[in-house]
Amino acid sequence: MTRPRHGLTLRVSLLTQCQYDCAYCRPGALTPAVGKSQWLSAAEYGRLARVFAQEEIGRVRFTGGEPLLRPEVVEVVGAFRAAMPGAELALTTNGQLLAAKLPALVEAGLQRATVHVDSLDPERYRALMGDGELEAVLAGVLEAQRVLQQVKLNVVIQEGKNEDEIPDFLAWSRAHRVEVRFIELMNTGSAVGYTRQVFFSGQQILARAGAVERLPRRNPSDPAALYRTADGVTFGVIASDTEPFCADCNRLRLNCAGLLRGCLYQPGGVPLGPALREGATDRTLGFMLGSAIRAKQSHHPLAGTERAQFSMADAGG
Ligand code: 5AD
Repeated sequence: MTRPRHGLTLRVSLLTQCQYDCAYCRPGALTPAVGKSQWLSAAEYGRLARVFAQEEIGRVRFTGGEPLLRPEVVEVVGAFRAAMPGAELALTTNGQLLAAKLPALVEAGLQRATVHVDSLDPERYRALMGDGELEAVLAGVLEAQRVLQQVKLNVVIQEGKNEDEIPDFLAWSRAHRVEVRFIELMNTGSAVGYTRQVFFSGQQILARAGAVERLPRRNPSDPAALYRTADGVTFGVIASDTEPFCADCNRLRLNCAGLLRGCLYQPGGVPLGPALREGATDRTLGFMLGSAIRAKQSHHPLAGTERAQFSMADAGG
């Protein structure tokens, strides 16, 4: 059962690097990877977690790059759990290291995971994502399903690459009771021509899924619109491009150097990490956070404000 969630969702990126090389993400293509010396340490994440705890944060999602590549990930999850006992803690991962890390993550307080899988065919998986053993990833998903409160699969749909697998994903979802979310490719600027070539809209996804019934969103701020197929499989469609959901967005993003953004497309960011390193007090950091939250209400990239170009890995997907 999903409890109603309140407050903001904070996405915490742990690094920009990833083992994978998906054609639409391409970490480092637009901006160089954030170097290790700039990465927030576990103690620095812990300090910021306590500052964030002064605001109403309903959920924290750890992301990257690939968050499980950071050896400190368990410590960081634990620090957020200690600072925010009531928040839901979630992880977005490519799943490659998930099975190995799960016990420690659960112990530290992790409750949910979303695993990104673009194909159920092992060879195509490697061709699309550039690395990884599908079998091991799916084993990790099923183990996570056993020990976490909720697990979902994220599938970025691309025409001519994997749109033919939509029925296969639905059948897999039905067999394993793991909800799948089909994601419309976002044109983030890191692979513009490629994105145009393979774009497959939310409407096309629905047509291919043979969906019959639309369900209400679980929460207004949930990016996924929910549908149910004739044979009872519930799935999500995230159509950020054709149906932007800016008005209901409740997300803040902290990148691995400690820049806080209210929107993926927002250039710059509030420099919480650099301020912390220069000796800012918790009070000052709290004030900066408050101003970032207020600024979130006014940044609307679709309404003509300046729009950053980024790779999801750099921005903290
Ligand atoms: N468009 C849509 N989704 C993307 N992701 C990464 N880049 C893009 C893009 N250009 C997805 C990842 C992951 C989630 C955090 O974002 O695959 O599932």
